[in-house]
Amino acid sequence: MKLLVFAGSTREKSFNRRLAKATSAMAAAGGAEVTHIELGDLDIPMYNADLEARGTPPDVIRLKHIAYEHPAWIICTPEYNASYPALLKNTLDWISSPVKADPAWTDGFKSTRGKVVGVLSASPGALGGLRSQSHLAPLLLNLQCWLAPVNFALGHAGDAFDEQGALVSEPARRHVQAVIDQVLWAAARLQP
Ligand SMILES: Cc1cc2nc3c(=O)[nH]c(=O)nc-3n(C[C@H](O)[C@H](O)[C@H](O)COP(=O)(O)O)c2cc1C
Repeated sequence: MKLLVFAGSTREKSFNRRLAKATSAMAAAGGAEVTHIELGDLDIPMYNADLEARGTPPDVIRLKHIAYEHPAWIICTPEYNASYPALLKNTLDWISSPVKADPAWTDGFKSTRGKVVGVLSASPGALGGLRSQSHLAPLLLNLQCWLAPVNFALGHAGDAFDEQGALVSEPARRHVQAVIDQVLWAAARLQP
């Protein structure tokens, strides 16, 4: 199963980037074909329809292809003001915007429809960014994704990783593994 993993942060020492890396490593160790991407490696501007009318940015097209090719995704979201960050909204807005000049991408939902998505979050706070997930969920449903009902919010994220970036706590690893397992299980059954 092809699993796409990314975090909604570009911060160098981001907890969500660390969580995404730990998740990718765990999923790969379990046999999944994991693609781990860093949103910071993509040149994606703030969405603007005038800019789009001059041509969808090449990295948006690249991301649409990557998203389309992966039936299973796991997103690690930070929490900003009890919601998910603008980076994630902007990225998902671009992914879902039709490319009018390209017949292969006039269907805006092509790269999101039917994807099985697991959501994780990490925060230095006690709730682990859980509230961001409740805002991200309707966006993913609007993109016609299947949302995995098992989720996990990693609280006190400053103490959660060892020097190698692995999750220190066994319960945290079990929770992340449960999300990985459910996403892969459901994607195997729901892909067309
Ligand atoms: C504008 C802003 C709002 C924030 N709001 C919240 C919040 O509502 N809940 C929370 O747990 N943390 C909040 N934080 C702290 C983030 O969880 C923290 O900066 C975290 O490290 C960001 O994720 P990252 O480490 O993956 O970059 C906020 C941070 C910023 C910059």
